[in-house]
Amino acid sequence: MKDPVRIAITGGAGQISYSLIFRIAAGDMLGPDQPVILQLLEIPQAMDALNGVVMEVNDCAFPLVQDIVATDDPNTAFKDADFALLVGARPRGPGMERKDLLEANAAIFSVQGKALNDHASRDVKVLVVGNPANTNALIASANAPDIDAGQFTAMTRLDHNRALTQLAQKTGKHVTDVENMIIWGNHSATQYPDLAQCKVDGKAAFDLVERDWYETDFIPTVQQRGAAIIKARGASSAASAASSAIDHMHDWALGSKGIVSMAIPSDGSYGIEEGIIYSYPVRCQGGKYEIVQGFELDEFSQEKMKATEKELREERAAVEHLLG
Ligand code: NAD
Ligand code: LMR
Repeated sequence: MKDPVRIAITGGAGQISYSLIFRIAAGDMLGPDQPVILQLLEIPQAMDALNGVVMEVNDCAFPLVQDIVATDDPNTAFKDADFALLVGARPRGPGMERKDLLEANAAIFSVQGKALNDHASRDVKVLVVGNPANTNALIASANAPDIDAGQFTAMTRLDHNRALTQLAQKTGKHVTDVENMIIWGNHSATQYPDLAQCKVDGKAAFDLVERDWYETDFIPTVQQRGAAIIKARGASSAASAASSAIDHMHDWALGSKGIVSMAIPSDGSYGIEEGIIYSYPVRCQGGKYEIVQGFELDEFSQEKMKATEKELREERAAVEHLLG
């Protein structure tokens, strides 16, 4: 058996975590031969609920779970963490945009960035799920100067998976037949789900679907899917968010099959401003991700990519005071 790894999860008593923790404990994130120590963080008022979750994890008798820490102290939760899934934050309600959460949630990520900086493994892989995820990841990273900024990522894998299903259903194929899906930019209504490079069963997606469907149905459906779920469920997506968080961390740690979308610090690729946390097409191998270069971008794509970049710059300006 391998040595256990330490996985910190914030918001351990919340909706997403109620699915996420059990799937990680079952080995879905890091494989069936990787023991785990779960380090769960909550706010003091939610510690009773978190202890209930711990009781349930214990009651599953998961072979891979070596220990569980439940705490309301970020310094304890992030101690020696190899992986950190930052889920704990307020979700939006009907009629809100995710950036409306910036004020309520931003402070959480400066505190947690500092705690990661002081206590986590230097190689910690951080995934921010709490919204607005891209800018929260920027805040956490800015408050963790001793950890490589590239270790801070935000989740657009849910958008990527949503886009795979929309296209597969439209073309009567399976999600596993779709290659080169890309989500560019922000996990928000300005994100750009791009089919220009996409293939279905080896054929160009643009040869299989109408341009009109792409522009007036596919793109807005993916952009607005989070809001559609809030409207239908009365609460934001939870099990699908957990599943996508597992996909993101699994692929980062163990390698991706082909291209996946991850929001990562821009290095200036594709003309996007360096430093903002922008979703790119990446390939993962050996515990590292790499931006896939060389895609040709037409005017339509460039405009959409700039619009979502602009929103990320505005979000960054709104939290300048938290960026250290
Ligand atoms: P939830 O309200 O059910 O759970 C959030 C939990 O976080 C609560 O238990 C709360 O007590 C806890 N929490 C709040 N502040 C905390 C802090 N400082 N430290 C630790 N824990 C803290 O919400 P949820 O449905 O689980 O969603 C969590 C976040 O994830 C929301 O911001 C939501 O918008 C976001 N989300 C993102 C994506 C994505 O694709 N990136 C998808 C779905 C949801
Ligand atoms: C989602 O995309 O489902 C989440 O970001 C929740 C939301 O607010 O839409």
